[in-house]
Amino acid sequence: MTRGTPTQTATAITVRVPAKVNLFLGVRGVRADGYHELVTVLQTAGLHDQLHAHLVEPHGRGQHPAARSEMGIQLRGHLPEGVPAGPQNLVIAAALALGRRIGLTHVGEVHDDRDPVTVIELEKSIPVAGGMAGGSADAAAALLALDVLWGAESGREGLREVAASVGSDVPFCLEGGTMLGTGRGTELTKVLARGTGWWVVCEDAEPLSTAAVYGAWDEEGSPGTVDPDAVLAAVAHGDLNALGAGLHNDLEHAAFRLRPRLVQAKERLLAAGALGAVLSGSGPTLLGLTASRVLAERLADEVRPFHRAVHVVPGPAGGPDLTYG
Ligand code: C5P
Repeated sequence: MTRGTPTQTATAITVRVPAKVNLFLGVRGVRADGYHELVTVLQTAGLHDQLHAHLVEPHGRGQHPAARSEMGIQLRGHLPEGVPAGPQNLVIAAALALGRRIGLTHVGEVHDDRDPVTVIELEKSIPVAGGMAGGSADAAAALLALDVLWGAESGREGLREVAASVGSDVPFCLEGGTMLGTGRGTELTKVLARGTGWWVVCEDAEPLSTAAVYGAWDEEGSPGTVDPDAVLAAVAHGDLNALGAGLHNDLEHAAFRLRPRLVQAKERLLAAGALGAVLSGSGPTLLGLTASRVLAERLADEVRPFHRAVHVVPGPAGGPDLTYG
């Protein structure tokens, strides 16, 4: 959704971007490029990060952003523990990738105080390194904002290409809603989805590296054979009972081996009445599905003592929301 008017002279943009959950994640094997071949059903959930970007112009150097060759980047705001401020931050990685595409010769640290600077402020609510695509959502928000601020006019396909170069979940985060993902998870098809489910999102006390979980899956090494049909039918019909029964993640076994306390945490969600429970992406966040906010709040109260934080959020949650000015 977009508010305000995108003009050539837009100098400030705010993007609110939702978290991702995988209703289904099937790992089919290792690809020639080292990534894993996936079949996955992705959906947004109502936990949001917010990115605000504005352009600071040196006095007297007014110029269309597309005509510039150097662009300073400053990432500001209180970043939670574990969120890097440098190029490992996917916001910076996204800015560099977009800058390369549009031919900027330098993007990043400010070299010359006569150059323009893009100031980015990030407010994070999505769990860090939790399997809910927080970093990817921020990267998608950065691409959407900078594409306008820098006058890049990349178009939908162009942005999607840059997004895939930044991370496997970034193309989905550009769009939101409910999608079937194949390949690395970057080839996306929109999926019909009805109804709203309520998630109990349980944060674990420590992060889990995505690469480590895929590595543990490699050691077990047997491609999943479950297909996403039950989940696709459940979301098409808005049947939350069927969705709860169909939730599936081939990475769960590997993640549970690396973090054994998640086994009991999942059992606790089911015993407390969740329609289904599943690891979110590569984890360690666990998700319990319920049919209403009231039921979700009740379930959340029951499991809260066992987690660092527990949130109640609806899903699906639309896509990124842009406000100009
Ligand atoms: O693409 P992204 O940088 O988000 O992936 C993080 C890590 O997750 C990769 O380095 C890789 O180890 C693993 N991964 C994978 N196959 C995928 C997606 C991610 O092996 N389809």
